[in-house]
Order: sequence, then structure tokens, then C-alpha cells
Amino acid sequence: MFIESFKVDSPNVKYTEGEIQSVYNYETTELVHENRDGTYQWIVKPKTVKYEFKTDTHVPKLGVMLVGWGGNNGSTLTAGVIANREGISWATKEKVQQANYFGSLTQASSIRVGSFNGEEIYAPFKSLLPMVNPDDIVFGGWDISNMNLADALGRAKVLDIDLQKQLRPYMEHMVPLPGIFNPDFIAANQGPRANNLIKGTKKEQVQQVIKDIREFKEKNKVDRVVVLWTANTERYSNVVVGLNDTIENLMTSLDKDEAEISPSTLYAIACILENIPFINGSPQNTFVPGLIDLAIQRNSLIGGDDFKSGQTKMKSVLVDFLVGAGIKPTSIVSYNHLGNNDGMNLSAPQTFRSKEISKSNVVDDMVASNGILYEPGEHPDHVVVIKYVPYVGDSKRAMDEYTSEIFMGGKSTIVLHNTCEDSLLAAPIILDLVLLAELSTRIQLKAEGEGKFHSFHPVATILSYLSKAPLVPPGTPVVNALSKQRAMLENILRACVGLAPENNMILEYK
Ligand code: NAI
Repeated sequence: MFIESFKVDSPNVKYTEGEIQSVYNYETTELVHENRDGTYQWIVKPKTVKYEFKTDTHVPKLGVMLVGWGGNNGSTLTAGVIANREGISWATKEKVQQANYFGSLTQASSIRVGSFNGEEIYAPFKSLLPMVNPDDIVFGGWDISNMNLADALGRAKVLDIDLQKQLRPYMEHMVPLPGIFNPDFIAANQGPRANNLIKGTKKEQVQQVIKDIREFKEKNKVDRVVVLWTANTERYSNVVVGLNDTIENLMTSLDKDEAEISPSTLYAIACILENIPFINGSPQNTFVPGLIDLAIQRNSLIGGDDFKSGQTKMKSVLVDFLVGAGIKPTSIVSYNHLGNNDGMNLSAPQTFRSKEISKSNVVDDMVASNGILYEPGEHPDHVVVIKYVPYVGDSKRAMDEYTSEIFMGGKSTIVLHNTCEDSLLAAPIILDLVLLAELSTRIQLKAEGEGKFHSFHPVATILSYLSKAPLVPPGTPVVNALSKQRAMLENILRACVGLAPENNMILEYK
């Protein structure tokens, strides 16, 4: 059975005017390696830590500024939200299609809240805590191409033409602000669309982005802004001692207009200085060490990297299943071909390299979790190929071959072929990223013994489910397995309303 909403009745939870307060017992373990009875042993001690959470329930009017607004993802997301808000339906060759949010964790997935008369009861994921309604988001942003969003929809060739026509009146007046362009960081083939540029030194460009955010906020009367990079994949920046390794060096390099500071890092600096959450949806290393430190110092949310949309999502499910089942993946080979502008940009070796790195570490945590299958340091062969094939447009093909060793030296080979519009996968993920980033800035927590409440660590690991290469604070484990990432997110939100983590024990029926 499906219910629309619920309220928790518990001595550990208080709903006050403007706040949900919860007291939560975090069940964890403490490990020690010590000499007991003459031998060194691992001792695992169960441990309970009392946490308090408080969530501000005032949902702000949210502005979302996309870097690369006029691209396939930016235009598709904006169109999708308007179509949902306006209740637009359109004719396809098969049927009359209604707008929906399929593919969005917050808008189209559910959580289990318990059993009732022998039936499992589910509720919308978004009913866990008050979240911004996508209908109320005001979109804006930057693009190095000055094409208005209605025309950009045509250029993207993602949505049906009947829908594009209906959306034109809503989108033709939406024109991206000029963007920061540096041809050294993206493929040379992007040059022809760069006609809408912020001029000046790097420092002046950062100041212009700050001005743009302030003006957008003022003009649209929004309470909060989240900025998300969905612009072209850049090449990696060189991380160099003295250049971008510390806050001071990064800021001095900015003053000196150093060539090696990428546009994405410049937007991020502007956001952190303004305390605006900044999320990187592309694979490059926007978050150089000095920038991460700046975000930590200013307690300004950063998250990324690279949307986890198709092939990687499958990989982090399939390899988790195989390794979890005691089967040993030994070779993982992934081919992609796509024909959109992202594919054209990725056809340059430097930008492809960013994508290759981002796609390549996704099975590490699963492999490391099973020392029966893998020797220390042993890895499956893992190869990623991406080719640009203009004809297929945004309809990306992903082909994967997984070879595993099974019982008694046998081999099992699984082959997957996925054909799908890339931007229709990415757009709902962008929506989730901005909604969850905003929500997480309204949550405060305090562990037993901590004097005062604080927000989550500014490096937002809570967004890992949506990121191909999750950015984590130094010294924090990276989790790629999709089910663990989802459980982490869901269980943290459950803790905020005093609900235990979903443990799937169903002891009531045992
Ligand atoms: P796109 O090429 O259609 O759009 C990117 C837009 O960014 C273009 O309109 C371009 O003019 C603009 N742009 C480039 N540099 C800029 C700058 N410095 N400032 C402002 N605007 C700039 O690409 P698409 O398909 O929308 O993808 C965007 C990004 O998302 C790519 O990096 C892609 O790798 C990444 N991504 C996409 C996924 C998907 O499923 N679609 C999945 C994972 C990541």
C-alpha cells in the first residue's frame, strides 16, 4: 500500500514551529587490534552514540543557477520542470504523454515506513522531510553560447517536437548570462559556440559571477541559490605546490591571473565566497586542494563529481551484486558511443581522460570489500572507451562486458547493452542534487559530547548516490556501491525524523 505522507509519534521526536528535532541512537562499532590471551586479535565492540538532529522546516524559495544552462542537460531539466509545473502533455507517435519526474530519487521513488495488517506500507521519498517543490524553482545560469533556451531545446534534439513547441513561450525569453571561457580547458571543437563570454582577468571573472548571483537572487526574490556545473567536461587542472594546493596559494594565483585555474574552479571560488552551494556534475578536478580547504574554512557546501546516470550506475549495482555473491569479476569492459555535444567535447584526448578517470575507480570499494576473492592490491581489468558518433545524437549507447570467475574455475560473462537519451537520465539527477543540497543545509546535528549543533561537513558526501566519483573529505571512505549510497542518504533523512535505519529484518513475521 502507498500512503502520501506520515508523521512520527515518538518521545524522541518533536515537531515544533519551524523545526523537527530528533534524538537518535546511532548503532555502530569500534574496532581494536589488541593482544588478548597472548595473540593479537581484532575485537569488535558494538557502540551506541546518541545524536541529536534538528531540521529547519521553512522551505525556502529556491533559485538554481546552472553553469552550461543552454546545454542538453540544462535545457532538458528546465523544460522538464516547466512541463511538470504547467501540467503539459504532448502527442508522441504512441500516445499522449504527461510530464513526469521519472528517474528522480526525491520525486519518483518511495521508502518503506512499516507494515500494516500484514501489508508493507510505502510513502514518497520526498515525504521524509520538507523539501523544495521543483515547481517553485526559479532557473537561471550561464553559458558560453548565447542561444535562448527554446532554441537550445531544438539544438539538443532530446524532447519531442510537440513538447518543444508548447514550451517555446516559456523558454524563449530565457537567455544564459555570459560564461567564463578558457579554450585551453575544453575541446577545440567547442570554440564555434563560444559567443557569450565574461571578459577580464580571472579575478574580475569571479567578481562578475558573484555579481550575477546577487542580481539573480534580487531579481527573482529567491531566498537561497544553488549553483551546479553541467557545462562541458574540462581537462584536469595540474595540481601544483604553490599554485592551488592551499587556500593562500589559490587566492594568490587568482590575483596573479595564473593560467592553470580552470573556469569551473573560478565559478566554485565565487560560490564559496558567497556561501552558495556548488555542485560539480562533470568529471574534472574542479575541487583542487586549495578550493576544498576554502570550502571547509568557510563552511560552504561543495559536492560532486560527475553525474552518476547510466553505465556507472549499473556498474555499481552489478559489481556490488557479484562481489556480494562471492563471484569474482575479473574483467570489466565498457564501450560508449554518443553523438551529442558532450560526445564531441569528449572526443579530445584531454577531456576524455577526465571521464576515464572518473569512470575507472567506481568498483574499488566493492573489490576491496572481499579479501576472499581478491589479493591485496588486486583489481579486475577495467577499460572504458568513448567514441563520438554524431548520428545517434543524445541517444547514448553503452555496452558492457563483465567476465567473472565462478565456482571451480568456471567463467561467467554478462553483456549489457543500453540505449537511452543521456540528458533524460541526467536531468532528474540534477534536480535531486540541488534539492538534496538545499535540504542538507537546513539540517544540524550534534553527537553526544559535542557542545553545539553543527551542519554536515561542507564536502557533501550525502550526495554520493548521485555522483560517479563521490567527493569526500580527506580521510573519509569513498562508497560507490549504489545500494549503500542510497541507504546512507535515506537512513540519514530517517534519523532526522527519529526513524531507525531500514534494516530489512522484518522480525515481526519471524
Ligand atoms: P552539452 O555540451 O550539451 O552542454 C554543456 C554546455 O556548457 C554547453 O551549452 C556549453 O556551451 C556550455 N559551456 C561550456 N563551457 C562553459 C563555461 N565555462 N561556462 C558556461 N557554460 C559553458 O553537455 P551535456 O550533455 O548537457 O552534459 C553536460 C556535462 O554533464 C558534461 O560534462 C557531461 O560529461 C556531464 N555528464 C552528463 C551526463 C549525462 O548523462 N548527460 C552524465 C554524467 C556527466
